[in-house]
Amino acid sequence: MSSEVHDKDGNVSRRDFLTLSAVGAAAVTGMGILAGVFRYAKSDARYEDSKVFKIGKPENFPVGTVRKLDDKKVFIFSDDAGIYAISSVCTHLGCVVFEMEEGFQCPCHGSKYNKIGKVVAGPAPRGLPWFEVTQDVDGSLVVDASREVPAGTKNIFS
Ligand code: FES
Repeated sequence: MSSEVHDKDGNVSRRDFLTLSAVGAAAVTGMGILAGVFRYAKSDARYEDSKVFKIGKPENFPVGTVRKLDDKKVFIFSDDAGIYAISSVCTHLGCVVFEMEEGFQCPCHGSKYNKIGKVVAGPAPRGLPWFEVTQDVDGSLVVDASREVPAGTKNIFS
């Protein structure tokens, strides 16, 4: 008559069933918490990864061209000395600069930079950063916007 005993067919008692259910619910809850923790940790990794991005094969950047990658906030230049990446983010307050014949200009407060990103008119406190460009094993060029290189650093890729 008690709910603690197995029935005559050997089925699980009500108490055992409730205990197993509670353990199962706790396990599912624990896995959900762990999944959330891993997702949170991985989101930081994705943020870091977003500073490193592929821009395509070298042949997509013929000598004499410049491409502005708006979503990555970077200019990709290609000249006889190689391919290089210059930030398009003004070092004053972070507006996106535009290219002009003499270099770059910020639309917000008028800072101007020469062709290699050096400040020629303030209020920008420093030049536009140059970012490291490398080549992945699949041949794609990779820009690492977390790694600055000296202005003038250009690389020829094949
Ligand atoms: S944000 Fe570029 S000059 Fe102020």
